[in-house]
Amino acid sequence: MDTRVFKVDPVRPERDIVEYAAGVIRAGGLVAFPTETVYGLGADALNASAVARIYEVKGRPLDNPVIVHISDFNQLDIVASRVPEEAYRLAEKLWPGPLTLLLPRNIKVPRKVTAGLETVAVRMPAHPVALELIRASKNPIAAPSANISGKPSPTRGDHVVRDLYSKVEVILDGGETLYGVESTIINILTDPPKLLRPGAYPVEVIEEILGRRIEVPDFARGLGEAPQALAPGMKHRHYAPNTELILVESIRGDFDAVRGAVTGEAEKLAGKGLKVAIISFKEHSSFYKGVKAQILELGSRENMFEIARNLFHTLRVLDTLNVDAAIVECVEERGLGLAIMNRLRKASSKRIVLP
Ligand code: TXA
Ligand code: MG
Repeated sequence: MDTRVFKVDPVRPERDIVEYAAGVIRAGGLVAFPTETVYGLGADALNASAVARIYEVKGRPLDNPVIVHISDFNQLDIVASRVPEEAYRLAEKLWPGPLTLLLPRNIKVPRKVTAGLETVAVRMPAHPVALELIRASKNPIAAPSANISGKPSPTRGDHVVRDLYSKVEVILDGGETLYGVESTIINILTDPPKLLRPGAYPVEVIEEILGRRIEVPDFARGLGEAPQALAPGMKHRHYAPNTELILVESIRGDFDAVRGAVTGEAEKLAGKGLKVAIISFKEHSSFYKGVKAQILELGSRENMFEIARNLFHTLRVLDTLNVDAAIVECVEERGLGLAIMNRLRKASSKRIVLP
């Protein structure tokens, strides 16, 4: 298939490009577009066969439902059969933005979208290109992240081109995305509400708005798997680079011990004749000077926003280095750190957990 790639102004998207892409969506085609979190692969959310193609193109397991994106509060009635008061309260404060809410499914939403579940995941993205595309398409847009299933999510137009060129009709390249990790997914239909996936909005922010605690199950921390009925998508391997990735973390948050263990592991692998990379932070690079490893920096230890933003790109860069394995340091599991640790745990093939 011919794929048309358009560079698009992320702040004031060109009308003619948006109109063209919206025409493709209305005709049942697929358009990859930037959001403030990661790039999405969009189809008309009310067109079951268009949505079926999303699964095909991504190689996505059929039991992994996709998020429906809206541009306007009026569209809530098209996708949900009911909007609980707490959902409204969160949406009013945090939409448009990186928050996804589980709502009871409206029967207009094809089962393909929700993978047979009676709930639908809904979000209103904040990115001008995403909002304009939904508006011009006239319907809500179903969109998972625009990567091949299991691979790191795309945070730049060229990531999407690499994964989806010749498989979709249109790729809108709006440059680098702002947050670099996906939206926060909350189930407010349970008591207490549950975090299904940590993301760009810290769970602490959402707890403050609701004035009550949100349960953070182990699978939301990237440990273990979600029960099938609750969130099918959470059980599949995600975000993984092709390179073997080893994560070192510490239960007590002893970061000196973490650096020591990273060094030890790197020297052990290098001693076996393997080529090794270490994924670390600006402040720690000098610490690893004597170690036989290539160093990649995620950003400053003090800046979780920067780390989140560089995370998926760094995992993709890792695969171009031709190393046999990479070792990555943990971050503190607080604020954005919860989302970062979730992604790192799911991306890694081995974990070393220190006390
Ligand atoms: O930031 C984002 O959310 C990005 C951009 C493109 O909007 N989208 C995204 O989609 O991350 P995706 O498909 O990569 O992740 C969607 C997650 C999956 O883990 C899926 O299991 C979950 O949302 N999900 C969707 N519908 C659900 C439902 N009805 N119940 C439980 N989980 C659901
Ligand atoms: Mg994804």
